[in-house]
Amino acid sequence: MLSLTCVFWCQLTLSIILQPSTELVAAQSVKSGFDYVNPLIGTTEGGHVFPGASLPFGMAKAVADVSSENQGGFSSDNRPVMGFSHMHDSGTGGAPSLGNFPIFPQVGCPNDQLNNCNFMQKDRTASVVNGSIEAHPGYFALTLNSSIRAEMTVTNHSAIYRFTFPATGSNNSTSLRPLILAELSDLPNTRSNGSITVDPDTGRITGNGTFEPSFGIGNYDLHFCADFKGARIRETGTWRNNRAGSEPKSQSVQADGVNNSPQILPAGAYTWLEAPDGHNQIFVRVGVSFMGVNQACGNAEHEIPDFDFDGTREDAEATWRTKLDVISIDAGGASEEIQEVFWSGVYRSMLSPQDYTGENPLWDSDEPYYDSYYCIWDSFRSIHQLITLLDPLSQTLMVRSLLDIYRHEGKLPDCRMSLCKGFTQGGSNADIVLADSYLKNITEGVDWALAYEAMLSDAEDEPANWALEGRGGLASWKSLGYIPTDDYDPYGVGPFSRSISRTVEYAYNDFTLSLLASGLGHAASASLYATRSKNWINMYKADQSSTINGTSTGFTGFLQPRYLNGSFGFQDPIFCSPLLNFTSCYLNPDGHETYEGSSWLYTLFAPHDMAALITLLGGPAHFIRRLDFLHEYPGLLYLGDEQAFLTVYLYHFAGAPAKSAARIHSYIPSQFNTSLNGIPGNDDSGAMGSFAALSMMGVFPNPGQDVYFITPPFFREVNVTNGQTGAVATIRNVGFEGDGAGLYVQSARLNGEVYGKNWLKHSFFLEGGVLELTLGRDANSSWGTRVEDLPPTMGGWNGSSSRPMEEMDFRF
Ligand SMILES: *[C@@H]1O[C@H](CO)[C@@H](O)[C@H](O)[C@H]1NC(C)=O
Ligand SMILES: *[C@@H]1O[C@H](CO)[C@@H](O)[C@H](O)[C@H]1NC(C)=O
Ligand SMILES: *[C@@H]1O[C@H](CO)[C@@H](O)[C@H](O)[C@H]1NC(C)=O
Ligand SMILES: *[C@@H]1O[C@H](CO)[C@@H](O)[C@H](O)[C@H]1NC(C)=O
Ligand SMILES: *[C@@H]1O[C@H](CO)[C@@H](O)[C@H](O)[C@H]1NC(C)=O
Ligand SMILES: *[C@@H]1O[C@H](CO)[C@@H](O)[C@H](O)[C@H]1NC(C)=O
Ligand SMILES: *[C@@H]1O[C@H](CO)[C@@H](O)[C@H](O)[C@H]1NC(C)=O
Ligand SMILES: *[C@@H]1O[C@H](CO)[C@@H](O)[C@H](O)[C@H]1NC(C)=O
Ligand SMILES: *[C@@H]1O[C@H](CO)[C@@H](O)[C@H](O)[C@H]1NC(C)=O
Ligand SMILES: *[C@@H]1O[C@H](CO)[C@@H](O)[C@H](O)[C@H]1NC(C)=O
Ligand SMILES: *[C@@H]1O[C@H](CO)[C@@H](O)[C@H](O)[C@H]1NC(C)=O
Ligand SMILES: *[C@@H]1O[C@H](CO)[C@@H](O)[C@H](O)[C@H]1NC(C)=O
Repeated sequence: MLSLTCVFWCQLTLSIILQPSTELVAAQSVKSGFDYVNPLIGTTEGGHVFPGASLPFGMAKAVADVSSENQGGFSSDNRPVMGFSHMHDSGTGGAPSLGNFPIFPQVGCPNDQLNNCNFMQKDRTASVVNGSIEAHPGYFALTLNSSIRAEMTVTNHSAIYRFTFPATGSNNSTSLRPLILAELSDLPNTRSNGSITVDPDTGRITGNGTFEPSFGIGNYDLHFCADFKGARIRETGTWRNNRAGSEPKSQSVQADGVNNSPQILPAGAYTWLEAPDGHNQIFVRVGVSFMGVNQACGNAEHEIPDFDFDGTREDAEATWRTKLDVISIDAGGASEEIQEVFWSGVYRSMLSPQDYTGENPLWDSDEPYYDSYYCIWDSFRSIHQLITLLDPLSQTLMVRSLLDIYRHEGKLPDCRMSLCKGFTQGGSNADIVLADSYLKNITEGVDWALAYEAMLSDAEDEPANWALEGRGGLASWKSLGYIPTDDYDPYGVGPFSRSISRTVEYAYNDFTLSLLASGLGHAASASLYATRSKNWINMYKADQSSTINGTSTGFTGFLQPRYLNGSFGFQDPIFCSPLLNFTSCYLNPDGHETYEGSSWLYTLFAPHDMAALITLLGGPAHFIRRLDFLHEYPGLLYLGDEQAFLTVYLYHFAGAPAKSAARIHSYIPSQFNTSLNGIPGNDDSGAMGSFAALSMMGVFPNPGQDVYFITPPFFREVNVTNGQTGAVATIRNVGFEGDGAGLYVQSARLNGEVYGKNWLKHSFFLEGGVLELTLGRDANSSWGTRVEDLPPTMGGWNGSSSRPMEEMDFRF
């Protein structure tokens, strides 16, 4: 209830705001998806979201970099700013990514003495003024405690910064003569060789450096080109450690091997300007390129020819509006917060992979080149499905790029960033992305015969280093049908851990290969890999019980480690859950048999073989009780790791879609909301965002299959316009009650016909149509509960497991 004071003041304030412009009234009453995006969600407590300025899938990503917790450059926890840099990744764990060649502005040097300015990061940091941050798609701004307002926006390969300086320096002995430095560094501090040059006439600073990727091997070279506008050049020069000088105009530095650990020598260049005329503003335009300094300068000159900050910002915003406008919602009373969660999730799913086409020095090709597949272990579950749904052209280019990487590197990537190979976390999960795209008509210009070859290579040929690509233990996989915990593998190297999680992922990878083989008419191969896809069962130990603190959970039958000789070992089924040694299951040599999750979780991963799994676990009723226990026992399941996503929807396979709906409507907003820490775990390049967005649209995918689980959208109506066909698909809730109850489907119609299935195919989006869900409060409604309503499973639901692949409802 509004207080009287507020009624009075709010009306007064509103009338003051609204009176001057009727345009403003219109703009406020019709909020678009763009207006609901809050890039700051997930920027604290480990979310690692990049909140800065980017285009969809853009290479340039500008933001203020803070001193730590800076995986995505910035974090919202009052850490001081060290610089502004032009490339980032978003939501990743591990080391901070990129952040190369930061620039930093100072109002002037006290007493006009060059060496009274601060050069090193530890000296020059500035706090962020509380309440000064503004973030929108394509735009980021904040005010430093030096009273400098820093705004930034981007094109595909360039950033432009507008620094607005106070009329005088904060220190009265400092007059306004801005000094802007650039540094040969990156966020994880990996720069080895580097060179920097400043042009005394124009102030242009150019440079290059050799850096290391944040979650992979090798190194990469990057180049940049910074130009200044807004004031005459007063002086230029370079700096090293905490001293600077107007000569020389170039410096080259190398990492020194001291005690075997490279010492990164702080070094850079500066351009010192006279007081800016007019608005006290200096514009800094920075182009980046992997190809060379000339291309970095060319990118900037071409993309932002006249330093037009506002025009560049408008273009960026228009690009985002176009991307987001393929979805249209009628919120129907859903709260502003729910809408903000949704649109922000959609937005974050379009930051990576990043389009580096024309920026790949590793090989010559006419194919697109995307990078920051970071990592496919995270993105195969919902990110690529959301991109496929909303921007099929970009997904097509990503698929072609994956295949071009295979063509030139010999394997599909599992994780890739900064032109380097990243670390594989489980299976060869690019297989799942490819099969998913194949089944969803992502075909234009895609060489599916090559995709088949690439997936066969994952399934058959163990690479020398399977920590980086492909799969390990393939000899055992083929002969024993599981990865033994004591595997003998003389064919390749990699961390000999995760035997359970690798087994279930390899099985599913093989299944998606069988789907592609079937679609391409390779029947024998389809049958072989369908058989191998049943291997998950080989680690199932039927009599394994699970106790928590000595009390039985009442559930028996879990995946367990298995030795070469066939006998089972033991890993507590709750191990690696938040209840027990949660952080002991990362990608380290002493990791365990399940990766970043428990056997409770991995025992449920057979997305293709759910009939067998449910039977094994005691039938649908018992299966539902197990899912309930997993979701309800405090600390047993952590939704912040991506393997948890599918468990929310597995009820559909047991004929209980209302349970899936209830679960997702509880996780959103309890785990997904609009606060700065409004996501569980790392966002992982938009994994959390895409999970929330697809869930809220009511069509969460079974990744790698042509299947969307139907749950009621969080809005009265959602429209999606398909980018390939132009068709509009409408998902409409009838009897929608906003955020209130009544979230169970009582009956459904697809294009007017009664629709009993609890899942949909992608043809709905390609062809368009209307799915109408009539909602009610009855959780025991019979909709979607019959055997013929269930999503596809191997062998069908009636146990005729000898049915050949061709008959299965898995076909393209
Ligand atoms: C102001 O600048 C002078 C001259 O460099 C310096 O000695 C003094 O510490 C500065 N004061 C503040 C508050 O920064
Ligand atoms: C600005 O912030 C930095 C970093 O927190 C701090 O060291 C410095 O003293 C602050 N300067 C002023 C003028 O408050
Ligand atoms: C800014 O706000 C945070 C709390 O959000 C507080 O800890 C900090 O001291 C504030 N800083 C200033 C300069 O007021
Ligand atoms: C930026 O890149 C995208 C593809 O990633 C492309 O569609 C768009 O046209 C580019 N923008 C400009 C202005 O070149
Ligand atoms: C600067 O000088 C003005 C006027 O002398 C004074 O009011 C103000 O406090 C001074 N500011 C600083 C940061 O010393
Ligand atoms: C650095 O430069 C030196 C000399 O040119 C070269 O030998 C070395 O390989 C370079 N290091 C890297 C990591 O590129
Ligand atoms: C970096 O720039 C310097 C100076 O122009 C040049 O000698 C060097 O070859 C460049 N390094 C790379 C990796 O491009
Ligand atoms: C969805 O599309 C239909 C038909 O094109 C239109 O009538 C309806 O208003 C749209 N709904 C929304 C939420 O945009
Ligand atoms: C197990 O018991 C200990 C001691 O009572 C308690 O601290 C811990 O939280 C319990 N763990 C679980 C998972 O219940
Ligand atoms: C199988 O191998 C494991 C590990 O070496 C060993 O502990 C176990 O006793 C063996 N089982 C049999 C039946 O030989
Ligand atoms: C579980 O974690 C504790 C520390 O929290 C560690 O001492 C113990 O070795 C871990 N156990 C295993 C099996 O990794
Ligand atoms: C598949 O995609 C192509 C090319 O984008 C399009 O022409 C065709 O209509 C699509 N097929 C279906 C079934 O929608």
